[in-house]
Amino acid sequence: MESRNPIFRANRLKLGVMAFNCSHGSTVTTAPEAWPMTWSDNVALAQMADRAGFEALLPVGRWKGYGGPSNFNNRTFESFTWAAGIGALTKQIAVLSTIHAPLVHPVMAAKQAATIDHITQGRFVLNLVCGWFRNEFEMFGVEWREHDVRYEYAAEWLDVCRRLWFEKTPFEFQGIYFQGKELWSEPKPIQGADLPVMNAGSSDIGQRFSAQNCDMNFVMLRQRDEANDQEQIAKLKRLSNAAGRESRCWIHGYAVVRSTQEEAEAALNRYVIEYGDEEAVSNMLSIFGMESGTLAPDVMDAFKFHFKAGHGGYPLVGTPKKVVDDMVRLSEMGVDGILLSWLDYLGECKQWVEEVLPLMEAAGLRSPASSHHS
Ligand SMILES: Cc1cc2nc3c(=O)[nH]c(=O)nc-3n(C[C@H](O)[C@H](O)[C@H](O)COP(=O)(O)O)c2cc1C
Repeated sequence: MESRNPIFRANRLKLGVMAFNCSHGSTVTTAPEAWPMTWSDNVALAQMADRAGFEALLPVGRWKGYGGPSNFNNRTFESFTWAAGIGALTKQIAVLSTIHAPLVHPVMAAKQAATIDHITQGRFVLNLVCGWFRNEFEMFGVEWREHDVRYEYAAEWLDVCRRLWFEKTPFEFQGIYFQGKELWSEPKPIQGADLPVMNAGSSDIGQRFSAQNCDMNFVMLRQRDEANDQEQIAKLKRLSNAAGRESRCWIHGYAVVRSTQEEAEAALNRYVIEYGDEEAVSNMLSIFGMESGTLAPDVMDAFKFHFKAGHGGYPLVGTPKKVVDDMVRLSEMGVDGILLSWLDYLGECKQWVEEVLPLMEAAGLRSPASSHHS
């Protein structure tokens, strides 16, 4: 498996693109260039990242917007059907789907995942999330479990799913949340029961679940200081190693790259401060604050800027050289991969490929795309 799925590639710092199946992507702003989200733009961006040798494409699992003038993430493509389409139109990149465990039965999800794994010939990764946006669950009328119980539920959900990918004969399942007779699924994924799973839980229990059960573990760096960030990563890796797994630690980063530092900061401040959607971000953070223990209230306020700039991601802001220096430091701290988002995905991804990627290669973070096309 290690040699097949692109997320396991040897590049020291792997790259992906996230959230482009949603209107406004990751930027909570009314700036006119924000992502309108059409299928043709989704395909163009996915193929650009694929050709450039990026490792991953992540659609977000989102069901409704956050209000405010931007109504951030109001229009979203469903992530399994999105991945089936994007998977058929790309060649080497890993394609993910984000699934809310409480909203889809694992028998259904196991088969959807296996189907996309065949479409992509072993390039699929499942992003399993437990949900934190209560308003979207209210549309489904499903039970909204207490925070930590959501992760117990997800562990059992994943157990059912992985057994369906593995078992060669029908089996009974008698769990706390799932009971079923003669469970069965064929065909198995191309990657078998080792089909990689991602999780981005950031509370204590979320991190533990991710480290103990998943192959791609996200961390939301608090950005107080480098030692603190490094310890967050080290803790995640310790938890994985204790569970006998190898952690691959990824982060989400928002990028604003310009020819001078001043221009980059001015462009960032324009869409975050001048055009930032205070109402949508306040709605988002009041729910996130209540539903996740990730950020303490004082940190949350400081994080508002990062949420408007890129959904709480890590800032990569400045000249191509400065941004690559930042990524070298992140890599040295233990970050294995970054999922990127931009205000103007198509224009700024193209610029990244032309101006930043060559410097990443020169810095030893990545090898040229042509060397890992299969
Ligand atoms: C890169 C990334 C992608 C995520 N994708 C989704 C998503 O698509 N849908 C969702 O409901 N939550 C998503 N989340 C939220 C996490 O799954 C998680 O619920 C959140 O970080 C709060 O942590 P906790 O669940 O441990 O409290 C994402 C988080 C990150 C960092």
